[in-house]
Amino acid sequence: MANTILIGAQWGDEGKGKIIDVLTADADIVVRSQGGNNAGHTVFHRGKKYVLHLIPSGILRRRKVCVIGNGVVVDPVALVDEIEDLRASGVTIDCNLLISDAAHLVLPYHAALDEQRELRKGRARIGTTKRGIGPAYGDKAARTGLRVSDLMQPALFSKKLAAKMRENNAILRALGAKPNDFAEVNERYLRAGKVLAPFVANTVVYLHRQMQRGRDILFEGAQGTFLDIDHGTYPYVTSSNTTAGGACTGTGVPPHRMDRVVGVMKAYTTRVGEGPLPSEDERVAGMLHEMGREFGATTGRARRCGWFDAVATHYATMINGIDELAITNLDGLDSVHPISVCVAYRLNGQRLEVPPCDSAQWENCEPIYEEFRGWNEPTGRARKFSDLPKNARVYLETIAEMTGAKLTMVSVGPTRAETIVL
Ligand code: GDP
Ligand code: IMO
Ligand code: MG
Repeated sequence: MANTILIGAQWGDEGKGKIIDVLTADADIVVRSQGGNNAGHTVFHRGKKYVLHLIPSGILRRRKVCVIGNGVVVDPVALVDEIEDLRASGVTIDCNLLISDAAHLVLPYHAALDEQRELRKGRARIGTTKRGIGPAYGDKAARTGLRVSDLMQPALFSKKLAAKMRENNAILRALGAKPNDFAEVNERYLRAGKVLAPFVANTVVYLHRQMQRGRDILFEGAQGTFLDIDHGTYPYVTSSNTTAGGACTGTGVPPHRMDRVVGVMKAYTTRVGEGPLPSEDERVAGMLHEMGREFGATTGRARRCGWFDAVATHYATMINGIDELAITNLDGLDSVHPISVCVAYRLNGQRLEVPPCDSAQWENCEPIYEEFRGWNEPTGRARKFSDLPKNARVYLETIAEMTGAKLTMVSVGPTRAETIVL
């Protein structure tokens, strides 16, 4: 299979977890390179639903090694909870998990600051997951963060934590928020650190050794292209590089060792949180929510929904260098007719083929739609492309062409079996 980067080509929740699970069959190692437990990747395995937050979605398969790379922000307490939950479900976690010693830690003051900043923004809020992701990456960039390697040295960790907490408690008090108790946080984190210690390693060296042995690596992107800190709908983004380049910086695997980029996108569009979404449509949202679909895997929030936005996915192909496309949730459109696709934006009387940089302008873009005939029959049982109704095939081929990459997978249901490989 060679080394494959898998990224979300829209606003997150594209079905990356499901596609990772399918692709893991041909990989040896699955690596997360960015984000934290703001991610929620759903995988069905042996009839049971799992939502992975920090641990790569390959963990459910035997004999696959999962790596949390240096670019991930790790809440060690949440990670221990996730490991324990998975073990309670019968999933083996021992030599098959590695955590980078260089990954930054998410601490309780990050979550508290995340919440305070959101509160203060009022209607201009980002709609974050309140997991402390922004403030943790902020500390990393400001060179004041604590890392997994610090947590592995208890005396050093406590000293650094005390200094950080003095500063952050002063900020929290000034904001009228409750400060955190040093002794409690220190004790709780050191306890989590002890549980995690056997998994901690220099994952850069590990990955390079495995590549020398010819092992295949799958890089599991979190969030999606338009939540990228550089290329997304700033400031309505997350704080990491969710695009393909993040897989290199977040793992220490150089660009020329990457063989292909797979972009995952839904057959329609969703977004959770605030920010531009030109093709948003109440009817699409109503229909999907009525079907019990499109509620967030991490926060349970109802996702905003709309028509497929080919302006966005075409731009995503450019940014990520997407070679192959996996289109998910085709079955969500089974009873829709006609189906609209956003083929361009109109802003101040001008037709745009790429999104504007400024999110206020992006917000003001009006979608220009092209209409497609629906197929009005269930697709969930299709296992070959030719099993799909003609109108579904036309729809898929057209949106892949507009996006500008080769369609290689179609997902027609949440489980592994409900997948068409072209
Ligand atoms: P991720 O964050 O990209 O891994 O996506 P999420 O797991 O947050 O959200 C995707 C949702 O769609 C989950 O509930 C999946 O089980 C579900 N899903 C993925 N692919 C399909 C599909 O083809 N059809 C249906 N019905 N559900 C799907
Ligand atoms: P997966 O990996 C969808 C969104 C939040 C918010 C913005 C910033 O499951 O696709 P943050 O907590 O990161 O500071 O929030 O990003 N967001 C996601 N939306 N899927 C995700 O992950 C997301 N992770 C963050 O809703 O709008
Ligand atoms: Mg998700």
